[in-house]
Parts: sequence; structure tokens; C-alpha cells
Amino acid sequence: MKSVFITEYGGPEVVQFSSSSTIPKITPEKILVKVFAAGINFMDIHTRQGKYVNSRTYDVELPCTLGMEGAGEVVEVGKGVSQVKPGDRVAWCIAWGSYAEYATVPASQVVKIPDTISYEQAAASLFQGCTAHYLVNDVSNLTPGSSCLIHAGSGNIGRLLIQLAKTRGARVLATASTQEKIAVAKRYGADDAFLYQHGNFHQEVLAATEGLGVDTVFDSLGLQTLRSSFLSTRKKGLIINYGNVSGSVKNLDPLELGEHGSLFLTRPRLADYMDSQKTIQRRADDIFNLLADNKLKIEIVAKYRLENVVKAHELIENRTLIGKAVVAI
Ligand SMILES: NC(=O)c1ccc[n+]([C@@H]2O[C@H](COP(=O)([O-])OP(=O)(O)OC[C@H]3O[C@@H](n4cnc5c(N)ncnc54)[C@H](OP(=O)(O)O)[C@@H]3O)[C@@H](O)[C@H]2O)c1
Repeated sequence: MKSVFITEYGGPEVVQFSSSSTIPKITPEKILVKVFAAGINFMDIHTRQGKYVNSRTYDVELPCTLGMEGAGEVVEVGKGVSQVKPGDRVAWCIAWGSYAEYATVPASQVVKIPDTISYEQAAASLFQGCTAHYLVNDVSNLTPGSSCLIHAGSGNIGRLLIQLAKTRGARVLATASTQEKIAVAKRYGADDAFLYQHGNFHQEVLAATEGLGVDTVFDSLGLQTLRSSFLSTRKKGLIINYGNVSGSVKNLDPLELGEHGSLFLTRPRLADYMDSQKTIQRRADDIFNLLADNKLKIEIVAKYRLENVVKAHELIENRTLIGKAVVAI
């Protein structure tokens, strides 16, 4: 069985590839899946770097087969599993081990894939789709006439957030690091978009909102933008800091939220919004239906073989991959 794994944390050099005849064994609550496609995500890089070493939410152990999003056909089910059977088409996320020909997945984390969705589409949409889904539908309260700011609007979750926020009737402002990425954010529906790296984007946001600021900010960057996000938010507005790709703000005093206008700040995690099989299937069905109806667009821009997956990670880390990459197995 081919697989991509790490035995220590570090840079791209710690990623190993192996080919053996051993197929993983299931336990009573798990299923064995022949993997046809795996999603490539920033979270794979965070995993490789060891960012979850002390995480209670994401309990990653070494050695770890990378890849936490995948799709394939059920081969075998554990004794305690009744919701799926061999032959079913399934997808999953936040269960590690997808960068492999076979994966064992907790049955409670798999969803069934409708016939309208290919394995590659499922593997490209579940993790980031469910993330954008809970952020828009369960964390924020976007209504027609409300406004939001979406950082890294050309990123995978950024593009999904833009599209879902527009379906709720919100006015969407976005940020990106280059003019090319600003054009991408606008192509996906952003009403306006600004460069953020100079740190003054809040002035453009205020100018675009009659000096009030937006109702909600979706901030995946963290250190580089969070304090300017405070300046971009209206009084009693909401800042959703769902990622820290530029680093984590470690010295935040709650008083700052008061000083910027009684703001609400949350740091949510997908795992807490995927806490039952029913919820996971509901979110997945919404995303799959939107995709099938062409109301949501996810562009797969690159496909990799298992032995080359680290090349995709390098492109993500140097910010040159615009669109979704998958492993075709
Ligand atoms: N909280 C949750 O529930 C949850 C769930 C899933 C993912 N996440 C997190 O959300 C974040 C975004 O995920 P994604 O899948 O949208 O990632 P992505 O598609 O790779 O997009 C990330 C964007 O971040 C920007 N960026 C800024 N600084 C960067 C840096 N140093 N390195 C790389 N990119 C940088 C880039 O846009 P610009 O060049 O325009 O800045 C890039 O487009 C990640 O941190 C991920 O772990 C959180």
C-alpha cells in the first residue's frame, strides 16, 4: 500500500513515502476505505509542522499518515458499524490517513456521496465546504443588508465564504495580497476587495461603509491582520478568527475589544461544529447540493500523485496555488 507519512515534525523534508503490502486493520467503530481522492489542505502543513502537538481538539500522534480529507469506496466495516456497508461511496474529513491507497476512518465521521458528485469533487469540497458552511450559518448572522469582510478572499475557504455570504444577501468586502488575487475574490462575488499587507485596509473598509465598519470579519490570517480587523468592525460587531496562517496573536487583552466598540471575538474550530454524524451529513448534503446545482464553485486546479504531494504543500506555503489541489490515487 502506498502512503505518505511523517515520523517527526518539521519542514517538507520530514515527509516520507512508502509502498508496502500491508493494508491497515479496522477496529469495531471504523471502516476500511479504498481511497480514490484526497484533499490537500493547509491543515496538512500545520500537522507536519507539529502545530497540534498540544491540541486537545486535534489529537495527532506520530507516526502519522498525512491527509485529513478523502473520498473512496467502503471495503470493510467494523462490527459496530451499521450506517454504511461495503461498496458505498463515502467521504470524510478531520480524520487523518487520507494520503494513502487505503484508510481506516471512524464511521461516525463519514458521509455518503450522492451519484452527482465525483470522488474528486467530494475530496475537494468536504473540509473547506463544511468550514465555510458552519462559519456562515452557525457562527455569523449574515442577513440581507448586512456586511462582512473576508480576508484572503482568493484562498480556498475565502472563496467559499464569499459565495455563501452572497447567498445570504450580505455585502462582501474582501482582502488579498496581490492584484491578481483581488481579481479572483471579485470573480467569486466580492463586491469590493483591497490589498491588506500594508496594514491600512481598515481605512478602505471604513471608507466603504460610511465610517461604520462591517458587521462581521472572517479572519484566517491572525497576527498580521487581527488588530486592523478590530478597526474595520462596527460597534458590537463580530470578529471570527478561524485561522492563523500569518501567526497567532499571543498578547491580546480583552479590554482591547471594549476599546474598539464592545466587539465580539471568537476562535471557532470545525471539530466543535461537526459533533454528530447527522450534523456532518447535513452540512455535506448542503454543500454537495449547491455544487450539483452549480450554485457553488470549487475549482480543482491541480492533481498530484501520492509521491509528489509535497510539491503541492510547497506551493501552498509560498502562496502561489490559487484553487484546490487534490491527490488522485
Ligand atoms: N477554524 C476552523 O474551523 C478551520 C477549518 C479549516 C481550516 N482552517 C484554517 O483556515 C486557514 C485557511 O485555510 P484555506 O484552506 O483557505 O487555505 P488556503 O486556500 O491555502 O488559503 C490561505 C490564504 O492565506 C493567505 N496567506 C497569508 N499569509 C500566508 C502565509 N504565510 N502562507 C500561506 N498563505 C498565506 C493567502 O492569501 P493571500 O496571499 O491573499 O494572503 C492564501 O490564499 C488555515 O489556517 C486553515 O488551517 C480553520
